[in-house]
Amino acid sequence: MWTLGRRRHLCLTFLLVCVLASVTFLHIYRDVFHSVLDVSVLFAGRHLVAAPVAIFCLSGTPGRPNASSPPPGPAASLSGTWTVSPDGRLGNQMGQYATLLALAQLNGRQAFILPAMHAVLAPLFRITLPVLAPEVDGLTPWRKLDLHDWMSEEYSHLEHPVLKLTGFPCSWTFFHHLRDQIRREFTLHDHLREKAQGFLRQLRLPRTGGLPRTFVGVHVRRGDYLEVMPNHWKGVVGDGAYLQQAMDWFRARHEAPIFVVTSNGMAWCRENINTSQGDVIFAGDGQEGSPGRDFALLTQCNHTVMTIGTFGFWAAYLAGGDTVYLANFTLPDSHFLKIFKPEAAFLPEWVGINADLSPLQKSPRSLFGID
Ligand SMILES: *[C@@H]1O[C@H](CO)[C@@H](O)[C@H](O)[C@H]1NC(C)=O
Ligand SMILES: *[C@@H]1O[C@H](CO)[C@@H](O)[C@H](O)[C@H]1NC(C)=O
Ligand SMILES: *[C@@H]1O[C@H](CO)[C@@H](O)[C@H](O)[C@H]1NC(C)=O
Repeated sequence: MWTLGRRRHLCLTFLLVCVLASVTFLHIYRDVFHSVLDVSVLFAGRHLVAAPVAIFCLSGTPGRPNASSPPPGPAASLSGTWTVSPDGRLGNQMGQYATLLALAQLNGRQAFILPAMHAVLAPLFRITLPVLAPEVDGLTPWRKLDLHDWMSEEYSHLEHPVLKLTGFPCSWTFFHHLRDQIRREFTLHDHLREKAQGFLRQLRLPRTGGLPRTFVGVHVRRGDYLEVMPNHWKGVVGDGAYLQQAMDWFRARHEAPIFVVTSNGMAWCRENINTSQGDVIFAGDGQEGSPGRDFALLTQCNHTVMTIGTFGFWAAYLAGGDTVYLANFTLPDSHFLKIFKPEAAFLPEWVGINADLSPLQKSPRSLFGID
């Protein structure tokens, strides 16, 4: 009895020590667990379709095992911490992401994106750059670099190991040498691609009822640009005549193309796009499109008609076929041309159609109190 009692006592003491040790361990590491949990909860709560790769990459594991143009060396050998300020909407942030990826790779630095960029891009694309925890962003002594919107020599040897890029870069001159990698980064999640493909599959040719072979995505940027272009930049957005010319360009070169129109101004499109040939489809039943769905649809088309803006640029860049764009859409003395170089924005093989600038002469800008 006594021996049994003493053994039980020893056993209980041992258990108690174990419990105390575990509690101490948990206490010490609580903060570490907390930050990891915070990050995953943030993504789980806000984005049901967040790319898991980006979260797994927190440890620094390269997310693409079989890339045709891998970054120089494994991610572990990349030094430094580079990121980019997420600013603007989808197209802007795609430009920032691609530019960060390309410049970091060029300079042998590890690129991270911030959670706000992950929140915009990961619901659509299978992006792989690791996400920087907010507390690391807050504690990192960033050096900032405001980028202009075209590649220049100085960007290929940036010495700073800790760098936060800012600005609105969206020029192929930064990343076109990595086109395959960029297109992989912006691969749609399966459910979005399927939905877009399903939409295209149910379309029929106007006269024969046959299956279309060629889809041309048409992106008509309206919204805030209607004010910003004439009033701030002495420019225009694409009009009905431009869209007619652009669609005729495709009708002359492809047999029976179908035009899939997306816009943040669908009512205007319905009134101003000539549908007499029966080959124009308005996506989204005339409602204002959801940017993600519209973007997915445009990238699944074979060719692109763009108007202005980075959303259209990315749709065309990813669709990868023939692209017609609106050229010379500002007056020659516009300040826009100081921050935007057409030759760095549009791929050389894309086809420009000159904008009609006559509305700029007609609308007195003084009416709006702007210069
Ligand atoms: C991986 O790369 C090899 C050639 O390096 C290629 O043959 C293979 O198809 C690639 N696999 C995938 C899944 O991309
Ligand atoms: C054109 O796009 C459709 C829809 O994505 C696709 O099924 C078809 O293969 C494409 N055609 C060509 C020639 O790439
Ligand atoms: C835009 O204007 C410039 C200068 O006048 C001209 O050289 C260029 O060809 C124009 N672009 C197109 C697509 O017509």
